[in-house]
Amino acid sequence: MTRASEGDEQGEAHGVDAGGEGASGPRTHNAAKIPGGDRAPDQQARVRMSYDAVTDPYVDRVHGELRHKPLDRALLTAFAEQLQEEFGDSPSVCDAGCGPGQVGAFLASLGLAVTGIDLSPAMVARATALHPGLSFEVGSMTALAARDGRWQGAIAFYSIIHLTSDAEVSAALSEFHRTLADRGLLLVAVHLGEQGDATVHADEMLGVAVDMDFRFFDLERLTGDITSAGFEVVARLVRSPYPDVEVQTSRAYVLARRIEERVAS
Ligand SMILES: C[S@@+](CC[C@H](N)C(=O)[O-])C[C@H]1O[C@@H](n2cnc3c(N)ncnc32)[C@H](O)[C@@H]1O
Repeated sequence: MTRASEGDEQGEAHGVDAGGEGASGPRTHNAAKIPGGDRAPDQQARVRMSYDAVTDPYVDRVHGELRHKPLDRALLTAFAEQLQEEFGDSPSVCDAGCGPGQVGAFLASLGLAVTGIDLSPAMVARATALHPGLSFEVGSMTALAARDGRWQGAIAFYSIIHLTSDAEVSAALSEFHRTLADRGLLLVAVHLGEQGDATVHADEMLGVAVDMDFRFFDLERLTGDITSAGFEVVARLVRSPYPDVEVQTSRAYVLARRIEERVAS
């Protein structure tokens, strides 16, 4: 099968495999061998169209998910409290690849000023309807329409999983570095590959035809990429999937702080 996104969340809670295994089964390959940025526009167009198509069932599955994920709530709460301690009561945060906005809304409930950004106009429309008090924009995390130092925090929850070329991951991390204030915090959540970095193609998700790839990360490599992009890693958490709540993949969370110096490559 193909593991569907994290938005996949709760797919299995309902006994439904939210993945999109095609007739030929999953097509797994080494992401490092995918050519660089020249594929990014095409990939992002396919991701955008896929999430536009799957928005309604995705919202049904995912929107209440944090209720069943105490470790995620704890990490998000620690992220919020750390930002508030260092930047004041209402730090500004970018929720990159926000989907229907449930993670950003949780942070907003803790006092953060959240802007959600997503490639999919349909997701942004649903997020806006679900959370009228919050701000959402259509955009790509690989080319953020925000000034340098705009945010004190950024999160990317199961969204860099669609950046299947190294060039795209590098572009997104570079954009997070550019748009974060000095000492700002980045919190990233991904699925881990069982045997290192890999991507899987999906042509169906939650009963809807899609055409996009999901990346499963190697944690050491991701941590190295984050460090090279100008961050110091503050914490890493690997957790098993919650049974009956989400797709059964191991998950990793990386909390990192922006620093001025980049590691020379
Ligand atoms: C699996 S969903 C996760 C949504 C939400 N963060 C969550 O945790 O439920 C992935 C989301 O990332 C968005 N996305 C993928 N690539 C993106 C990009 N380059 N820039 C912005 N959003 C992107 C998709 O449109 C989709 O809404």
